[in-house]
Amino acid sequence: MMRMRGPATDLPIILEDVTIVAGDMAILDRLTLTLATGAPTMLVGPNGAGKSTLLRVAMGLMTPASGRITWGGRANSPPLRRAIVFQRPAMLRRSAAANLLYALSAAGVPHAKRGAHVAELLDLVGLAGLSERPARRMSGGEQQRLALARALAREPEILFLDEPTASLDPAATKALEDVIRAVAARGIKVVMATHDLGEARRLAGEIVLMHRGHIVEIGGADTFFTAPRTDEARRFAAGELLI
Ligand SMILES: Nc1ncnc2c1ncn2[C@@H]1O[C@H](COP(=O)(O)OP(=O)(O)OP(=O)(O)O)[C@@H](O)[C@H]1O
Ligand SMILES: [Mg+2]
Repeated sequence: MMRMRGPATDLPIILEDVTIVAGDMAILDRLTLTLATGAPTMLVGPNGAGKSTLLRVAMGLMTPASGRITWGGRANSPPLRRAIVFQRPAMLRRSAAANLLYALSAAGVPHAKRGAHVAELLDLVGLAGLSERPARRMSGGEQQRLALARALAREPEILFLDEPTASLDPAATKALEDVIRAVAARGIKVVMATHDLGEARRLAGEIVLMHRGHIVEIGGADTFFTAPRTDEARRFAAGELLI
């Protein structure tokens, strides 16, 4: 008897010579990158480097002007196994729990299982006490965590995070980083943009330094900081401003 094939994987995600143009500017410029199974990949670099754009492209939300992108070898892969948390997540004008119920329903989770799932997700992101709070009244950091829970409701294979700790205080940052580590330990591939070099070092994996639509340097978290190959990486790792 033939064995059933498991669901197709979206990994690796391979970008080859991907260019994204806005106006007359290339915001990603012939960018080549492989996102593979394993520890988190952290995207770092100054404002406007192209981090958010790269996340959107890898999610499949933007079509390159030129170049190729494949998910597990397929050029057209619906984002069923991918989830993204945007830099400024938008919440429904409902309670935190209702936002998650909506996401679970959209993900096809059976009605009877949704309640338990909501409780589990809120607990995972440290919002167990806020389930009835209107999502849009929550603080920026609480909304970030709710957005992460909403993304996890889809049980993604790959999770794209765009500066999820940018508006969080140190305690909330630590809590969220713990969640991200737990998510990665479950085998979910995390690809995350951050401005915080300490955070990049704590969570990577692999660090990708971007500047002006290019990848300047890519390497394991250790070598990136201890043995940077490029002058830009050396300056960036030393905390100098890349302009
Ligand atoms: N739709 C668009 N139209 C025109 N320019 C755009 C568009 N989207 C992005 N850009 C420009 O492309 C560049 C890269 O933007 P992107 O948001 O990817 O950078 P980033 O690395 O995420 O920056 P930040 O650290 O500020 O979040 C920026 O200069 C931005 O203004
Ligand atoms: Mg950005």
